[in-house]
Amino acid sequence: MFARPTRILTIILVAFGLFLTAAFLQRILKGSLRLSIFTISPSEANPPTPQILAFWEVWAKVIDAARPEIPAIVLQEVAQPAGIQPENERDRKPFNLSIGIPKTDVELLRQSHERLVGHANFSRVNEQATRLFSGTGIVTVAGGYYFAPAILSIRMLRKTNATLPVQVFLQNKSEYEKKICQEVLPALNAECFVIQDHLRKDNPVKVEHYQLKVLAILFSSFESVLYLDSDCMALLDPKELFDSEPFLSTGLVSWPDYWIATEDPIFYRIAGLPSFPKGLPARSSEAGQLLISKQTHLTTLLLAAYYNIYGPGIYYPILSQGAAGEGDKETFLAAAVVLDNPDYRVRHRLGTVGYHEADREFHGTAMVQYHPGDDYAPRDPTSLKQARPLFFHANSPKMNIAHLLAEDKVFYPGTEDRLRIWGPKESMTKMIGYDIEETVWVEIVEMACTLDDTLEDFRRAWQICERAQRHYRETFQSDATAFPT
Ligand SMILES: *[C@@H]1O[C@H](CO)[C@@H](O)[C@H](O)[C@H]1NC(C)=O
Ligand SMILES: *[C@@H]1O[C@H](CO)[C@@H](O)[C@H](O)[C@H]1NC(C)=O
Ligand SMILES: *[C@@H]1O[C@H](CO)[C@@H](O)[C@H](O)[C@H]1NC(C)=O
Repeated sequence: MFARPTRILTIILVAFGLFLTAAFLQRILKGSLRLSIFTISPSEANPPTPQILAFWEVWAKVIDAARPEIPAIVLQEVAQPAGIQPENERDRKPFNLSIGIPKTDVELLRQSHERLVGHANFSRVNEQATRLFSGTGIVTVAGGYYFAPAILSIRMLRKTNATLPVQVFLQNKSEYEKKICQEVLPALNAECFVIQDHLRKDNPVKVEHYQLKVLAILFSSFESVLYLDSDCMALLDPKELFDSEPFLSTGLVSWPDYWIATEDPIFYRIAGLPSFPKGLPARSSEAGQLLISKQTHLTTLLLAAYYNIYGPGIYYPILSQGAAGEGDKETFLAAAVVLDNPDYRVRHRLGTVGYHEADREFHGTAMVQYHPGDDYAPRDPTSLKQARPLFFHANSPKMNIAHLLAEDKVFYPGTEDRLRIWGPKESMTKMIGYDIEETVWVEIVEMACTLDDTLEDFRRAWQICERAQRHYRETFQSDATAFPT
């Protein structure tokens, strides 16, 4: 008795279903409806080149087989490096603190290290560089919270008239933002790559945070790379750096940090060196920027990758002993020194940028690094002071407007007074030549008002455009009228 109505119902449902499917397909074909299943796929980011993938597959296995066989190091004491005095500015001396790794572990570490650098094909790796990589460009690591500072940095780069291409590396697919990677960045001659796409699915090595930097440089298709942290901005077109000294003869330029280096001297025994090397810079490295050529330093990068992959618990504590900023920062120069590859360390001291809180505490908010060409061949031989400021590393706070607003970082602490994060206009002008904070905020306002519906981090923020405009008006415009468009 019930068979007939059920059948009729079924026919109606099937017909309705077919109608919906047809309408749906028609809309997809017309392009008016795009399903997420079609738009989110691993092929969306630029795919890795097969040669670089094959190269990494070989060396990832060697690095895996050279895994240090010791338990994670637990520091008993954290290095408290002295600031730099004129008398210790020269050559590095062994730092007077040792983690105290047991002798048997030192020997195990030495043997593992030797499995990489002593590998039959290791010393010939540089010969492959020109086959695997080509061209010159800028590499950065971004995604999530770091997208906004990275986009700002690229916008500032383009203001210098620099045309060098930029490759932006993201940790994994979940950080891939389609509109940013397919519209916003390409308009700035920048493209997205995903580090995870380069790693085998069964990769036993988990990489994150500091470990990503060396892999981004390695996986970039460029032969010569300027690496910039997402919060580091170039103040001049970097192109000439690649065509001149000291990069031409060394292929590796690094910049100084504030403190003396604090690696455990045992590191050099582990790395198979006869003694503590002579002629190292006294200061540790500030690796927010790095210039490197793979023709001369592909081996350096592989060994630095080793130090980073086994960084947490092993090489990070060995190379810094817990000193400020412990992470990838020392791994690049350490690798070059161990392999006796050439390098240049900028001698000019880094500049400090910050603000005073009502005659009290000084808050350091950014660092300035200087031009290596001016440093190598000083314009005024009696003084390094003539070197041009080249990089502005805005590390604390990072210039992510959504977070600056949410965390009240745009006001003097505990007040409602607008804050110049990088200090008075006069000192900025003296140091950089112009009021970079105002220039940067013009870019920030434009980003806040054009990416407010695009960048994931901005979409969650409340009235981001209006609030950014208001900060600009009240901080930089004495006559607080309309924001210039
Ligand atoms: C090294 O450190 C030890 C213990 O902290 C101290 O007794 C010694 O005087 C230091 N040596 C130098 C040369 O600073
Ligand atoms: C070194 O490279 C050659 C040529 O690519 C390869 O045949 C050989 O197996 C490699 N040696 C080792 C020890 O992996
Ligand atoms: C992808 O990256 C995000 C942010 O860095 C991280 O939280 C997440 O765990 C990562 N996912 C995988 C599968 O590695």
